[in-house]
Amino acid sequence: MTYEAIQYELGDGVATVTLNRPDVHNAMNDLMRRELKRCFESVADADDVRVVVVTGAGAKAFSAGADIREFVEPLVPTRFRDSRRRVDFRAVMDRCPQPIIAAIGGYAFGGGLELALACDIRIAAANATLGLTEVNLAIIPGGGGTQRLPRVVGRGKALEMILTGARIPADEALRIGLVERVVPEGQALAAATELARALAARAPVALRYAKEAVVKGLELPLADGLRLETDLSTLLRTTEDRVEGAKAFLEKRPPRWTGR
Ligand code: COA
Repeated sequence: MTYEAIQYELGDGVATVTLNRPDVHNAMNDLMRRELKRCFESVADADDVRVVVVTGAGAKAFSAGADIREFVEPLVPTRFRDSRRRVDFRAVMDRCPQPIIAAIGGYAFGGGLELALACDIRIAAANATLGLTEVNLAIIPGGGGTQRLPRVVGRGKALEMILTGARIPADEALRIGLVERVVPEGQALAAATELARALAARAPVALRYAKEAVVKGLELPLADGLRLETDLSTLLRTTEDRVEGAKAFLEKRPPRWTGR
């Protein structure tokens, strides 16, 4: 797979997707959005990808959001129709069975924060600044921000952030549950990769079902979510890896997972 606006690397089951326009703080242009969609479509079907890390190139930004240069011309009605038809790459991320970890170093604004919100776990560097800043440009978040942010930080905090377009520091993001962890400046990618490697060493099917149970379950009434958990955990009892896990424990050796 060749890309221009992003980079893709795969090693030891960990795929790293890097937003790669550091000269504009990794602002997202149309090419980057199309490449991210293509990238996550292929990741969703790739059994050799166990965990995904998303990060931004350069030391200053995860992503400063949509490329504002593309806003200068008003949308004509046909473009508007096209954008309604377009599948947002973040909706493709929602279909990925693998855990996705955002490594946020520096700015994460607008569509950049919306990308991080479509990830499962967010790790920020101490110098990170985060915000859904669209209202300052007379628009609202259009990449899932109005829906995903309140589901992460609650209605009031989300409205406060979206209505003011505030840019909040990493420690506040941690306090309100917008990020799971804050690490020293320059270490977000290393921390995310370390976590990704630890997850990639887990039994592959259990990892996917654990994510599915939590993510899909949150969209369901409790009784249906509990039913989903029962079904998935029962299915996992039929795997060879479950037998291997038990044997490895009893034989006091590390397990050798096969994904079957
Ligand atoms: N779209 C297009 N270009 C952007 C951009 C964006 N979202 N964010 C930054 N850039 C460009 C700047 O225009 C500048 O380009 P130039 O060197 O050709 O002038 C370059 O990236 C560096 O940005 P600069 O503003 O000089 O860096 P800074 O460190 O002083 O400030 C930000 C960084 C991120 C605080 C500031 O650029 C900013 O507020 N960007 C807009 C963020 C935003 O509103 N995003 C939501 C979009 S919906």
